[in-house]
Amino acid sequence: MTPIKTCIVDKSNKKNPVWFMRQAGRYLPEFREIRKENPNFIELCLNKNLTPEITLQPLKRFELDAAIIFSDILMLPYGLGQKVEFKKNYGPSLEDLDLNKLLNVKDEDFTNKLKPVYDAINIVSKDKLVDEKDLFGFIGAPWTIFVYMLNKKSPKLAKDLKNSIFNKIQDKDIQKLLMIIVKFLKIHIKNQIENGASMIQIFDSWAGLLEEESYEDYIYNPTIELVNYTKKLGVPVICFPRNIKNYKKFCAKVNPSAVNIDYEVDPKIIIKEIKIPIQGGLDPKILLSDKDQLKKEANKYLEIFKDHPYIFNLGHGVLPETDPNMVDYLVKLIKDFK
Ligand code: CP3
Repeated sequence: MTPIKTCIVDKSNKKNPVWFMRQAGRYLPEFREIRKENPNFIELCLNKNLTPEITLQPLKRFELDAAIIFSDILMLPYGLGQKVEFKKNYGPSLEDLDLNKLLNVKDEDFTNKLKPVYDAINIVSKDKLVDEKDLFGFIGAPWTIFVYMLNKKSPKLAKDLKNSIFNKIQDKDIQKLLMIIVKFLKIHIKNQIENGASMIQIFDSWAGLLEEESYEDYIYNPTIELVNYTKKLGVPVICFPRNIKNYKKFCAKVNPSAVNIDYEVDPKIIIKEIKIPIQGGLDPKILLSDKDQLKKEANKYLEIFKDHPYIFNLGHGVLPETDPNMVDYLVKLIKDFK
């Protein structure tokens, strides 16, 4: 009989489970080795032999409680037929959006295009290294995907949303596009779960770009739909509405299984405002300092969340310039914390 697995959200009640966003990535020499031989990032994400290997790399080094499938949130526009490229020192670059083409995408064609991602999840889910551990599938939140599909690149400098995003779509088409995104995100979630993802994380990396008056239409409503959908499939879902102005209200409205906070959030305040399990918070830049500094900052989070269900993670992904020895030190420190 297979033992009943306790998910990372349940574990957050008792001990401090830990995993990191971007735990498989450029800070690991073994990843850089593979990356060097595979200059096309999308092709790498579609390589069902290499993605399981990359996914498991950090689990071979550190005592982590979860794996996250090596993929990208931009596999969604790719699956919908909008070409995506990753350019060196530039980031993602998408081709022009063709809404009519998008409206005609068939469910099976989308699933077939992303089949290597689902095969990779299947392979990882059967690996001994994730026994008793969670395997995270993930998606970009509808708003963040909407931003990339229209802006066609990272909106880092896009302070003027009206010009960079909303001028690129007619008002009557906004709802249509959001509906297509939500529809295919559901398919993407379902396919990941059917192939062995035991948790889903929703990354809303650009939630912070919007004013609060737009949250209802672009963040809360579409995200609620996906959270409820995932829960109905029996899988817990963690939301990361990065830099959102009000995490308390987000949790009250969307009610995910847990929420990831960014490093701007004051843990002492949030703990009083949010009842659900909390994940993350530590500034990934701390990993670039020294061990004393890291210990001090990590202990701060561990102390504050001592009596609150807490999953240790960061307030953003591991930075490429991070020394893996610092990650090792951090994981041991968390595991030794009493
Ligand atoms: O967390 C993990 O380890 C799983 C894998 C993962 C990747 N991207 C791999 C990746 C996850 C969960 C993502 C999510 C993702 N992708 C987000 C949401 C989280 C966040 O960072 O805000 C976003 C916005 C993207 C889109 C994206 N992908 C950008 C903007 C970039 C370029 C910036 C950069 O870091 O180079 C990527 C590329 C990317 N996705 C890399 C990795 C490991 C780096 C690729 C490389 O090797 O050059």
